[in-house]
Amino acid sequence: MSDANRLVEIDEDRQIFRVAREAFVSEPVLQREYDAIFDRCWLYVGHESEFRKPGDFVTRTIARRNLLVTMGTDRTVNAFFNTCPHRGATVCRDPSGNAKAFQCFYHGWVFGCDGNLKSQPGKESYPEGFAASGAGNLVPVPRFDSYAGFCFVSFDPDIEPLPDYLAGAKEYLDIVSRHSGSGMAISKGSQEYAIRANWKLLVENSVDGYHAVSTHASYLDYLKNTNGALGGTPFEGHSRDLGNGHAVLEYRAPWGRPIASWVPLFGEDGKAEIERLHAELVERHGEDMADRIAHKNRNILIFPNLVINDIMAVTVRTFYPQSPDYMLINGWSLAPNEESDWARKYRLRNFLEFLGPGGFATPDDVEALESCQNGFRNHRQVPWSDISKGMGKAMPNYDDELQMRAFWSQWNARVGTPGPAPDAVSPPRPAPVATSAAA
Ligand code: FES
Ligand SMILES: [Fe+2]
Repeated sequence: MSDANRLVEIDEDRQIFRVAREAFVSEPVLQREYDAIFDRCWLYVGHESEFRKPGDFVTRTIARRNLLVTMGTDRTVNAFFNTCPHRGATVCRDPSGNAKAFQCFYHGWVFGCDGNLKSQPGKESYPEGFAASGAGNLVPVPRFDSYAGFCFVSFDPDIEPLPDYLAGAKEYLDIVSRHSGSGMAISKGSQEYAIRANWKLLVENSVDGYHAVSTHASYLDYLKNTNGALGGTPFEGHSRDLGNGHAVLEYRAPWGRPIASWVPLFGEDGKAEIERLHAELVERHGEDMADRIAHKNRNILIFPNLVINDIMAVTVRTFYPQSPDYMLINGWSLAPNEESDWARKYRLRNFLEFLGPGGFATPDDVEALESCQNGFRNHRQVPWSDISKGMGKAMPNYDDELQMRAFWSQWNARVGTPGPAPDAVSPPRPAPVATSAAA
């Protein structure tokens, strides 16, 4: 790891961008990713719609930490480490719900939804003022903030403010949050699955327009069979680097969008509803923005691991590596707070048909990613992956690889240049205690 450019090689003159396959298989690289990325970035933790009244909570595993996110009685949302300040037990063991208070099952300490210690069995054995001192409160995550309804945490107390971090991605989060005048909300339930592949392969895949026609041929056939011919160019659009490792593809595609893009599959009964939705968008945002919201698809990547795919439905997806070749994924459907039964039916159908782990797309993607990971067994003899497509173009296409280069450039800035070896920064070990019998 002595060569600063060893894991990502960028040759602007020859327009070659390569990533070392070692980055997908190496334990030390994974450790550096936790230290330099997951411990240092803003990470998606939930959506404001999951907290509507005091006591609403979710528990999430974010970068190997157990967190409890809950709305306090003052209606502010806070994120806490979900570990009892007494002796460590997990305080809240449900995935979501509403609670007046959280009681640790081990010795019974009780915390309010603001994280403050409310009572302890055997309180009289503690010094007076113990609870008031705050020493028994749940510990808040160093940073918590939200933008356009998306809530983020960071374990780095000194991280830049969330709006600065999000850079050009703010424009796209705004668009997704403006689909409906009623606001947007996470639908109940989530998709949880695992892929035997490195997490960065899913980053690449989530914003990869290049693979759509080949990997998802059966879905495109299905669209052809249900909607008639797909027209000359099934996909058309561009990709953009949004700064700080974030990127987006924005494009037209042949599927219907229950937001306001009709296709024959939606039937005649859907036509009037789609026209009504479109008129509403025009009224709220004007023709141009209404057209963009309704007819363009967006695959948005927020560095390092939040993907918002505003396609035939809206999916919010995040994922963490368990090991270099295994990741756990969580996906949610984001939908208008209020929409007709018709629109909701097609939205959920689209969500499951394409995006679900048993749908037309995800199993194909999983197969592709696991196949790449398998190929990386040969990384010593075949050490590089190529991510050069469209390099040097002023306006890269939706199926170029600019968006992946945006991610990898940021990844390289954080991880590619190794810091001091761990031994050089860890505190010296205490000297062994001398004993008379020491050999
Ligand atoms: S560990 Fe929670 S009350 Fe003891
Ligand atoms: Fe795909």
